Amino acid sequence: MKIILCKSYEEISVRAAEIVADVMKADPACVLGLATGSTPVGLYQKLIEMNQSGEIDFSEVTTVNLDEYYPIAPDNDQSYRYFMNVNLFDHVNIDKSKTYVPDGTAVDPVEACATYEALVAQVGPADIQVLGIGQNGHIGFNEPDAALEVATHVTDLTESTIKANARFFSSEADVPTKALTMGIGTILSAKKIIILANGAAKAEAVKKMLSGKLDTSCPASMLNLHGDVTVICDEAAMGR
Ligand code: F6R
Repeated sequence: MKIILCKSYEEISVRAAEIVADVMKADPACVLGLATGSTPVGLYQKLIEMNQSGEIDFSEVTTVNLDEYYPIAPDNDQSYRYFMNVNLFDHVNIDKSKTYVPDGTAVDPVEACATYEALVAQVGPADIQVLGIGQNGHIGFNEPDAALEVATHVTDLTESTIKANARFFSSEADVPTKALTMGIGTILSAKKIIILANGAAKAEAVKKMLSGKLDTSCPASMLNLHGDVTVICDEAAMGR
């Protein structure tokens, strides 16, 4: 894995935006794999600025998001669809009909996952996948477990993830307990991967990811199987 050590969150966002922008400039009809959460917000802000200044163009871009809570409506302000609209899509010249997020309203979530997996294969593979990392080492909502799923699937969120995400909801009880998420294989199908991490809370997970071992108790360690992964992090996240 290549590591870019940054002095600040601002620098993480700038360096990540430069890499995503290079992919977009090389192929204006590229497929971007996107993540939600607090980490990529600065990256999306930079991409918005680059789009508004005319440096990058989203008109032919397709996006596939990693995951979505289940069940949740797209207009719920905690849904990942809503997050993507507010933090990126509403501010750039993207055709929203080409932006895909797993369907948090599906009657049959298992079928929705199979449909999403087929969709990612059909429009993709992603030219670049943006990832954050959970404090417990999760990527997407692939939580630490004895075995990890390859394809898009329905998953139960762990106690640790529910607690970490409670900050976005009025109470911990409001955090959905399930999610639809790309599997490790879906993520690894991307041609290029960048994983962003800032703050000391991520240090243990980053350490395990970089330990050189494939450890299902740190799903991010599976990224070691990919040939083109760049870790963009600050000194606190690299602290361990
Ligand atoms: C979000 C996602 C998650 C987050 C992770 C880190 O789509 O898949 O894996 O990347 O939980 O979240 P933040 O950035 O809020 O610390």
